[in-house]
Formats: sequence, structure tokens, C-alpha cells
Amino acid sequence: MTGEAEQQLRAYVEYLRDLGVYNLYRRGDPVFEKAEQEQPVATASAAAHASEQVTVAPVQAPVLTASSMRTIPQPAQPTPATPLTLRASSEPEIPKLISFNDLAPLPEVRHEPAAKSAALEAIREEIGDCTRCPLAYAGRHKIVFADGDPNARLMFVGEGPGADEDAQGLPFVGKAGQLLNNMITAMGLKREQVYIANIVKCRPPANRVPEPVEANTCSQFLLRQIDVVQPQIIVALGSTAATYLLGRKQSLAGLRGIWHSCRGAKLAVTYHPAFLLRDPRQKGEAWKDLQMVMKEMGLKAPGKG
Ligand code: URA
Repeated sequence: MTGEAEQQLRAYVEYLRDLGVYNLYRRGDPVFEKAEQEQPVATASAAAHASEQVTVAPVQAPVLTASSMRTIPQPAQPTPATPLTLRASSEPEIPKLISFNDLAPLPEVRHEPAAKSAALEAIREEIGDCTRCPLAYAGRHKIVFADGDPNARLMFVGEGPGADEDAQGLPFVGKAGQLLNNMITAMGLKREQVYIANIVKCRPPANRVPEPVEANTCSQFLLRQIDVVQPQIIVALGSTAATYLLGRKQSLAGLRGIWHSCRGAKLAVTYHPAFLLRDPRQKGEAWKDLQMVMKEMGLKAPGKG
């Protein structure tokens, strides 16, 4: 596939993902895996391959005609009859989605406003030069902890750093970040007044979606950041943030426009700025989501009296 075609395909897949469509092409997804395990497994080698964790494009089943059926070679040796029973014990564990609310009880003691900065710094130090998940070995340059006011009333959570963020060590500083800055300004706020973080703190290679093991490993730190900052409102940017914060996979259409809860904050879901760059027609919809947030916070758009 040419570079351009590959880019187009990637953009299309990302577009579908932003809309909450996941199961087209990936293995490792619990729903996909379950459906696949329910298929009968024909031979030993098919069974062995079926349990491999590889990413494959869907393949069109060949059409069998009477004449082609006659030419299918028969196995010379009888196939060992073990795979079906072996698979049950060697099945990969299906990662469970657990909401941030269910991951840990809310802390009993809250940080005073003046102590929040140091508390966040302590979390950053604990992360250190992290090697807890595979992203540490996937070309990461800088760990992207967060940016903004430790006492912010409003927190944005994105998916994971891109190339610019990975180079600078700050979230949302590339093109999507510029759009996020504009969204924040349109709400009558400054970037320095909000807190911005991501589901994962290291850049996934080629900006792919973080794998569950990566997101789940990193969640403990984001959870503690939320508990320190204690924002009044969290805005989940895109479906990866919504999926992990809320602990359920659902289309954005079903999650937008209503309030959810997360660690004592009200949580709203909107489109990821990178999606809005790909499909600017949805900016009006995103603005509706932000207006819901502004109403809750008592904010007025600049110049609107
Ligand atoms: N996209 C994200 O989800 N996060 C960033 O920090 C940048 C781009």
C-alpha cells in the first residue's frame, strides 16, 4: 500500500473510531474476541493461529464451487485432537473495563488548594522514568504528565500524546492542541485556568489507540491527579477518554449531551479536537457540549454580556 493510501485508510479508521466504531479491524477487543471464539475451529493449525494476537484485515471468504471443492487437498496426517481443549486454558485474559469511580474509593482526606501543586509533583516523581507498560519501549521521548492549574474547576482529558507532545513533554501542544486552546478561549477561559491530561502519558507509536494494558497501567496516575485537582467538571475528549473514564464502550452519540459522574466531578463527553480537525462540520455539535459545561460553571462566552 502506498504511503498516501495508508494515510487515508488510517484517517478513515480514526474517523470511525471517533464515532465509536471499534470492531472493524482489531483483535484484542473483548467483543471481537468473544464472537471469534464462538466460531468453530476446523484444524489444529487454524486453532493455533486463531489464538495468536495478530492484527489482520478482514479476509473475504473464498466462494466454493463444486469443482473447487473437489480440488481442496485433504490432510495427509490425522490432525492432533488437542487444540479445542487447550484453548480454554491458554485464552488471553479479556481486559475488563472498570470506571474510574469503581477503580478506587474516593480519598477521605482532600488536599488544601495550596498543597495541590506539591501533591501533583509527588505523583510525577513516583512515575519517574516509567517502564510499567510497553509504551516505554515504543519510541517515547518525554512522559507527558499534564498542564495547567492544580486548582482548576475544569479538567480536559484526551487520549494520549502525539508527536509534538512527545517532543515537548506537554499535552495538547500540536494542531489538536491549538484547536483545544480555541475551544477554551471560546468558553471565556484561559488555558492556564484549566487542567489538561491524557489517558496515557506516553505516545503510542504512529498515534495508534492505546492498548487496554497501556491505558489500565497508566490509569492509576490519572485517577490520583483527578483526586488531587478535584475539578468540578471533567470533559472527556473523544471516545478513548470516555471509554476509560466511564468504564464502558459506547458510541459518542450515546454519551454526549448528558452528565456522567467521575470521581466526584460531573463529566461531559465531546469530540476529540483531532476529530474536529478531520471533520469540521461537527464543531457546532462540540460547541453545544461546551455550552452545557459553561452553563453548569456559570460561564459566559466572551462578548456575550
Ligand atoms: N491528542 C491527545 O489525545 N492528547 C494530546 O495531548 C495531544 C493530542
